[in-house]
Amino acid sequence: MKINFPSKASFLFLVFLFLTNCLNIEAQTCRPSGGVKGEKTTSSHCNEEDDLCCVPGKVYPTYKCSPPLSSHTKAYLTLNSFEKGGDGNGPSKCDNQYHSDYTPVVALSTGWFNHKSRCLHNITISCNNGRSVEAMVVDECDSSMGCDKDNDYQPPCANNIVVASMAVWKALGIPMTQWGWLDITWSDA
Ligand SMILES: *[C@@H]1O[C@H](CO)[C@@H](O)[C@H](O)[C@H]1NC(C)=O
Repeated sequence: MKINFPSKASFLFLVFLFLTNCLNIEAQTCRPSGGVKGEKTTSSHCNEEDDLCCVPGKVYPTYKCSPPLSSHTKAYLTLNSFEKGGDGNGPSKCDNQYHSDYTPVVALSTGWFNHKSRCLHNITISCNNGRSVEAMVVDECDSSMGCDKDNDYQPPCANNIVVASMAVWKALGIPMTQWGWLDITWSDA
């Protein structure tokens, strides 16, 4: 019996289909779960010079998922204080405590926070200057809701954020003038 192997061209085509399919699946695994709309508010947080509040009428997507994990998951690093009176809006969700700016702690977007499963575990954060730091997960950056009173009228978190204390930025050797927004990768430590 003669077995007909696919020609080289059709084999390559199958590989191509397989790869594009995989990439599609990966891109599709985290879609918005809904959206929230900025409201007109008289909250004192939302005066003109404060650009953190939801813009009235603007719709913000919400996410219950985050991008799939890899050995070096891409994310954006942002800066916040987890201290009492910091911008953190109450104690951290994992331990109901505040944390010093001099301790390396982070909050993760809802999907990665994964119902507290990473609470009080360390993650390793790496940036493209070759440095890395271990930091403890203490809080969630909520991607699933926002723009309401409970969330201080702030937009939902993006689904790919690692919010870090000052200590993390310092340990990564980022000059203070560049603190705020950085491409990083992270993994479970
Ligand atoms: C987690 O990270 C902190 C800060 O880098 C470190 O002091 C601590 O030993 C780590 N904890 C574990 C369990 O590895």
